[in-house]
Amino acid sequence: MCGIVGCVGQRRVAPILVEGLRRLEYRGYDSAGLAVIRPEGLSVFREVGRVADLARGLPDELEGSVGMAHTRWATHGGVSRKNAHPHVDATGRIAVVHNGIVENAPEIRSRLERDGIRFRSETDTEVIPHLIRTFYAGDPQQAVRAALQRLQGTYGIAVLFADHPDLLIAARNGSPLVIGLGEGETLLASDSQALVQYTRRVVFLSDGEVAVLSREGVDTTLLDGVRVDPAIQQLDEEWDVPDRGDWAHFMEKEIHEQPESIRRCLRGRVLAREGTAKLGGPDMTPRDLLGVGRVELLACGTSFHAATVGAMAIERLARVPASARIASEFRYRNPIVNRDTIFFAVSQSGETADTLGAVREVQTKGGEVLGIVNVVGSSLARACGRGIYVHSGPELAVASTKAFTSQVTALLLFTLLLARTRTLSGHEGRAVAEALLRIPDQVAAYLEDPGPVEAVADLVQHARYALFMGRGFSHAVALEGALKLKEVAYVPCEAYPAGEMKHGPIAMMEEGTPVVVVVPDDSVREKTLSNVQEVRARGARVVVVHSEGDPEAAAMGDLSIAVPRTLEILSPLLTVLPLQLLAYRTGVRLGRDIDRPRNLAKSVTVE
Ligand code: M6R
Repeated sequence: MCGIVGCVGQRRVAPILVEGLRRLEYRGYDSAGLAVIRPEGLSVFREVGRVADLARGLPDELEGSVGMAHTRWATHGGVSRKNAHPHVDATGRIAVVHNGIVENAPEIRSRLERDGIRFRSETDTEVIPHLIRTFYAGDPQQAVRAALQRLQGTYGIAVLFADHPDLLIAARNGSPLVIGLGEGETLLASDSQALVQYTRRVVFLSDGEVAVLSREGVDTTLLDGVRVDPAIQQLDEEWDVPDRGDWAHFMEKEIHEQPESIRRCLRGRVLAREGTAKLGGPDMTPRDLLGVGRVELLACGTSFHAATVGAMAIERLARVPASARIASEFRYRNPIVNRDTIFFAVSQSGETADTLGAVREVQTKGGEVLGIVNVVGSSLARACGRGIYVHSGPELAVASTKAFTSQVTALLLFTLLLARTRTLSGHEGRAVAEALLRIPDQVAAYLEDPGPVEAVADLVQHARYALFMGRGFSHAVALEGALKLKEVAYVPCEAYPAGEMKHGPIAMMEEGTPVVVVVPDDSVREKTLSNVQEVRARGARVVVVHSEGDPEAAAMGDLSIAVPRTLEILSPLLTVLPLQLLAYRTGVRLGRDIDRPRNLAKSVTVE
């Protein structure tokens, strides 16, 4: 969704800002804008459409070494140049870019309008520069703090004052901002991807903090003016700006990175000899784990599907009751939070508003939530305080692929650890640990020779309706396969538990309806195969995703794709691969915008 970049430097800032916005394009946006401080005052440029359109409209060699820029994903007010950020106060000497939503904007706006201020946009953001102006008497930081104390809602903001041409002010409440400490320049961004090519020394701003960026560094205070010491961190190489290389799209690249991303998630965490896992982040002793009476996993979208696999694995292996909950629903159901329940928030971005809301609800009720997060320093990672980083590295395609398999891997590691404190013997634990360690090579082997994915894409690309089905772990995989096909190819489809299919979706079967069945050689294989017979008998064209060396399952499909064999609880790590490729190949055939599908954003920071 919206993105912010800023810089107080010594060289021309416009190219840094445009490049920073380009790095944030993957998050989704519909307009862009930029402001720089020039000797004659603030200059603001805004454009609907792509960052490239904004860049084309900038004057050649635009002067100024201090500036900020924004990509907007419309919430309040349509997609138009006047609604794009930055917004300025009536004098044009204070400019603001903003991520988040000002909930009391209508009241503030009416009050300011009564005082004679004329608004130029329909956005909630425009109240901020006007409000800052009403408090400004020469001290920019004090004016920003005073204005922010009147705002309700969420914000990550950057503010420029023409009167203070060497400063950029930033503040955060619920919308991420990270400050980059370079040589003689200080940068700001809503996502470290816009900074890492300049510096890996960063400070993650916390909620309630206001930072003043200068060429010398950063000064941070709380809203009441109390000074805070910034905690400087060094970003790992894994967060360096990814290069698409020879791959046609980031999605394709990220699918093929999975052997390495899963290996990274496992690195140093599997104790093969002891048949258990070692997870520093959760910081739980075996004794603590023995006290866990229930596990609840909170997530949205693909992360919810990973959480579904995790919940099933925890119940199956550790015999601890576990469920995956859709965060946007969970937060409003007045959830029951028990002392012996441990919650996990599962999120690639760590910025999903619904998941953050669910975490706060659990915390308000006294519950303990751990994060299973990819993005280091993200809001969820910070809100949870401890948890497991999944180490996928940057995932730029909107459709999540490698983050899914890393989330599943992290949850399986936790499952193994938990199960060893109760149900699992050392011998059994070793079998799981060894199977986990084999997964990266098996993923690589499958991706080398993925089977007839093109033929399956041919079958589904013009379908009026397609069905994905599976039982148990494979139902979660079917859900993920259908979500991917919708997101990337816009093909109408749904996923159902194979046994539930006859209670409704079977009515959709007609001659040629594509049905993708996920049926590895597991405890429910026979049952799933009988469901295959039911759809076949009604004219469906069946695609079977099965384990290698299962000719009976293969023979039941019009098309069949084999994946390497593994334990049932690990099977999603392999069976999901053909479904990711299917969505990708179908999207390519249909000419879709693969890495930035319509209407979607990489991190969904609104409810
Ligand atoms: O960043 P998160 O994992 O919290 O995001 C949750 C969903 O928005 C996300 O998984 C979404 O479904 C993806 N576009 C899936 O490809």
